[in-house]
Parts: sequence; structure tokens; C-alpha cells
Amino acid sequence: MKGVVLAGGLGTRLYPLTYATSKHLLPIFDSPMVFYPIQTLVKAGIKDVIIVTGGPYAGDYIRVLGNGKKLGLKHLEYTYQEKEGGIAQALSLCEDFAEGGPVTVILGDNCTDADISKPVKKFKAKGSPSGKGAMVFLKEVTDPQRFGVPVFQTQNLKRKTQNKITPETHKIVKIEEKPKKPKSNFAVTGLYIYDNKVFDFIRKCKPSARGELEITDVNNCYVKAGKLAWATLEGFWSDAGTFDSLFKTAVYWARKKGLRIY
Ligand code: G1P
Repeated sequence: MKGVVLAGGLGTRLYPLTYATSKHLLPIFDSPMVFYPIQTLVKAGIKDVIIVTGGPYAGDYIRVLGNGKKLGLKHLEYTYQEKEGGIAQALSLCEDFAEGGPVTVILGDNCTDADISKPVKKFKAKGSPSGKGAMVFLKEVTDPQRFGVPVFQTQNLKRKTQNKITPETHKIVKIEEKPKKPKSNFAVTGLYIYDNKVFDFIRKCKPSARGELEITDVNNCYVKAGKLAWATLEGFWSDAGTFDSLFKTAVYWARKKGLRIY
């Protein structure tokens, strides 16, 4: 399984910090932000990785990451997103790198300590539970309107499990991007596993109102095809693309790495 880290974009929500360097190189306690998603991939056994950069500070990545060996990568490739085309457009630049196979994709500002090695291994062996397809990872959050949010339909409900939301009892019938009135308290995190069909789906996507190819539209293509599986992400997860989340994420990792904060 190959890995993709999406680290393009200008990080406008973090101006003036991102006037100085790329969002994904800002510190999360003692490491540049992008180390965390790379470590998530390495922990899952994914050591052949491409990183999509963009914006005026793309050159900084070479200084910080080099050839990736220090982070445990066997191979690190770089590519460059020329404009603000969205997450799905950034992913489309990785088609040659994927060489017809599946990819595990993580957004460069998603910092988690979850271990996804089991779902990655399973997907590699037989695709998502519905055969080939895609898998998204969900996390319960207090501010779902900031994210892609799944709309569920219940199935196979038994009295005992009625209050629990599990992949067996709740099927995703749609994902809504940053809905004003979220239909669940779950965020679709920026961690995805896709079969190679993802590149065909991206080609079919049209730019959204903000002029970008949305990853949520791609995920909805899998929903329509009946090929979107989901799992919950166990452990800590946060993006770090706003001042609040950047701070919260740094505090979490500082504590985890032993800093005593009162
Ligand atoms: C992006 C996706 C969104 C997802 C989020 C996770 O949002 O569009 O669906 O929930 O990443 O971090 P953005 O960070 O671009 O606002």
C-alpha cells in the first residue's frame, strides 16, 4: 500500500503565521505538523509516500523532510499543486505514483495517534468490506459543522445495540460538507483508503461553489456506488488548520510527550 500526504493550500485561516512558511510546517509542540500524518502512515507500515505541496514555501519541505529516511520512510516523492484546486485535485496529481493500486491518503494537518494498521492490512488483502472501494474514518466531535459529516441510515438494528452507532447498524447514505445543520455528531476525518477507481471519480467531479474539487464529492461517488465503508478512529484526532485546533493539538501532543501543563 502506498501513502499520500496532502499538504497543499495557502493556510489562509492561519494568517499571519502562514505568511512565514507553509501551514504544515508550523510546530505542533516539538515537531513540524507534517511529521504527525507521516508517522501515522509509517506506523501502519506505509513507507512509500508522496507528498503534495503547494504555495510559495514548497521548497521548505526538502529542508525539513529530505528523503524521508529519518522519519522511517523508504521512499519519498514530492509533487506540486499549482493552484488552490481543492483536496481532490491535489490527490489527482498522485495517479502515476499509485501505479494502478490502492492508496491511503491523509491530510497534512491531521494529527492523530490512532493506529490504522489493521484496516490498511485488511483493505490491502480484500478491499473494503464491500469488496474494492473506499474507507473513511469517523470521529465524534463537538463542532461537526466544521467538517464533512456523514448522514446515516440505520440497518439491522437490534434492541441491545440501538444506541450504538456502528458500521453494522449505521450505513452512510451521504456525506455533507460543512453543513449548517449537521445530521450527526461525526466528522469525516482527513484519513481515507481508496482503490484506484478514485482517480476516475475525481475526473467526474465538478468544482464546488468555492471553485474546488471536494473530497466529499469523491466520497459521495463511492456512496452512490455502494462501496463506501467506514470505521471509527480510536484515540486522539484533530486537524490543526485553525488557531483553536492548532493550539489544542499542540497541547495534546505536548502532554503525551511528557510536558506538564497546568
Ligand atoms: C477537509 C475536508 C472535510 C474533512 C476535513 C478533515 O476540510 O473537506 O470533509 O472533514 O478536511 O480535516 P478542510 O480542512 O479543508 O476545511
